[in-house]
Amino acid sequence: MEDRTSLSAEQGLDGEVPAPEIDLTRPSIARLYDYVLGGKQHFEVDRRAAAALYEAVPETSQLAKDNRNQLRRAVQWLVRDVGIRQIVDLGSGLPTVGNVHELAQAVDPRVHVVYVDNDPLVLAHGRALLSDETTTTMIAADVREPETIFTDPRTAELIDLDRPFAVIAASILHHLDDDVAYDVAGRIRAQLHPGCYVLISNFLDDDEPRAKELERAFLDGGLGTGRFRTWDEQRRFFEGLEMVEPGLGYANDWRPDHLTPSDSPVHTLYAAGVARKP
Ligand SMILES: C[S@@+](CC[C@H](N)C(=O)[O-])C[C@H]1O[C@@H](n2cnc3c(N)ncnc32)[C@H](O)[C@@H]1O
Repeated sequence: MEDRTSLSAEQGLDGEVPAPEIDLTRPSIARLYDYVLGGKQHFEVDRRAAAALYEAVPETSQLAKDNRNQLRRAVQWLVRDVGIRQIVDLGSGLPTVGNVHELAQAVDPRVHVVYVDNDPLVLAHGRALLSDETTTTMIAADVREPETIFTDPRTAELIDLDRPFAVIAASILHHLDDDVAYDVAGRIRAQLHPGCYVLISNFLDDDEPRAKELERAFLDGGLGTGRFRTWDEQRRFFEGLEMVEPGLGYANDWRPDHLTPSDSPVHTLYAAGVARKP
């Protein structure tokens, strides 16, 4: 594998998915994230980029776990307590333990979910996982063009945009530069109508040196993206929306349950909030 610059998913992985071209010269966010979460869909180039993160903050994998954990609680709350039955998950990532549609459909099997990503491996594995699904789909789109997601015919098949829906933007906006991230967040908010919800979670710069060190490792360690933003910068993503209790805060403080770690060593490096369009 060392002398290759690309390979197909069949060559490198389980052979059950179509063969997208995978660029092995650069790490991918999706594969690196899968690696730090303990998954199997990653390559040497991704592990090298992860090593730079671990060098900066050895507990980096807990950051990803804290994010997944908050995502789980938010999805369960949206479906069980708010009654949301339609979800659009932007930058959904490789299938993992506790996928959004599984969490939501465990509460109500009729929940519809549209997954969106632009990584070829995510698309291949997502589609393989969902091949028999009628309530869930995966579309290839760029979150930097959110309108294309909401006008996609496959979104229209599953999401009735006249009824309440929730948009998930978990661990995605911090991979976009400032001007793009705020623009995209505004364009996502523009898709919401009263009664719709959005979950946004991001790396947080809470004025401690580790945030800057980890940001540097993300930016210089091969991935090239990964911004740690201050509370004020995070708040801008929710402009014009009503924050749901407990508001924007550390991810682990968002409606914690018995599975939420109370002693995460990276508690202060991740922010999350859920908001409603009034
Ligand atoms: C860190 S993962 C987050 C996965 C999941 N949302 C979560 O929070 O567990 C970021 C995902 O966003 C995807 N992504 C990054 N930039 C994207 C873009 N411009 N358009 C669509 N997906 C993108 C990556 O491929 C990756 O799967």
